[in-house]
Amino acid sequence: MAADHAPAARHLLSAGDLTRDEALEILGTAASMHDVQRRDVKKLPALRGRTVINLFFEDSTRTRSSFEIAGKWMSADTINITGKGSSASKGESLRDTVRTITAMAVDALVIRHSASGACHQVAEWLAADGRPASVVNAGDGTHEHPTQALLDAYTMIQRLGALAGKRVVIVGDLAHSRVFRSNVLLLNTLGADVTVVAPPTLMPAGIGAWSRTAGFATSNDLDESLYAGPPPDIVMMLRVQRERMSGGFFPTPREYTVGYGLTRPRLDRLQAANENILVMHPGPMNRGLEISADAADSLHSVILDQVSAGVAVRMAVLYHLLVGSGPALENEDAA
Ligand code: NCD
Repeated sequence: MAADHAPAARHLLSAGDLTRDEALEILGTAASMHDVQRRDVKKLPALRGRTVINLFFEDSTRTRSSFEIAGKWMSADTINITGKGSSASKGESLRDTVRTITAMAVDALVIRHSASGACHQVAEWLAADGRPASVVNAGDGTHEHPTQALLDAYTMIQRLGALAGKRVVIVGDLAHSRVFRSNVLLLNTLGADVTVVAPPTLMPAGIGAWSRTAGFATSNDLDESLYAGPPPDIVMMLRVQRERMSGGFFPTPREYTVGYGLTRPRLDRLQAANENILVMHPGPMNRGLEISADAADSLHSVILDQVSAGVAVRMAVLYHLLVGSGPALENEDAA
């Protein structure tokens, strides 16, 4: 089939692809979707007859289950394929896996892959093959994780209102973090004032030039970033991604915590400066390394709110990609 005859599919590949209006529209839809979680019957007909494949080549707890729940609550047929249980483990290429799945006329592919750029590549293959499926990037290597940035922004806005001028400090293993990249892009679009902090060994190559064009600050000194200027509104801690590390990026876990961990004394000092400080972490956490149990479980922590927002935001994203804008929220019974 010629590519020209296929309707153009819509994708969510990068948080940087969203204009401010598009991001706010998705977040607005997510707020309506969030109400569905409080209903007894968690079912909308919005994606009835649509098929969503979650194609996860990397491990995941919250992202994969929240995409699956999001699809199911909107009446889509969702199935999960993981690297280990699929023909990928028999040596099938990503190209052939994608060709095989899209031959079954699916509507959306939600993809997590260890290769940065994998989702862009899949979107190009689909266009070349004339397949109209949408691609949602659920984390590609160390590149991007746009729905995580959307659910983080949603959580912040629910607690603090509009993000323009809000001070966000993002701390941790920036070199390996797709969450940080997508967050910087979206927070910039939404007008927040972002500082990112990491030891020199965990700063991504080229961040100096990127931070100057994108307009965010970088630092190797956590205490200075937290306490020298106006107090932050949000501190987002990122996981030390040991599975992506081949060598020694810091001397010992203890030294990492002393320099870059959100410890009890650091949180005490922060809350003295801002009693409404929000503590965030995308999960999974290394308790005792980048975040202390005290901080993770404190009243300032919105880490489980982020998880809950994940379902609403992913419902909104699937809805916008597969249906477009318009009313999505009639109950199954009312439809
Ligand atoms: C993150 C990821 O997979 O990029 N987790 C997530 O999606 N909630 C961050 C991480 O693995 O540390």
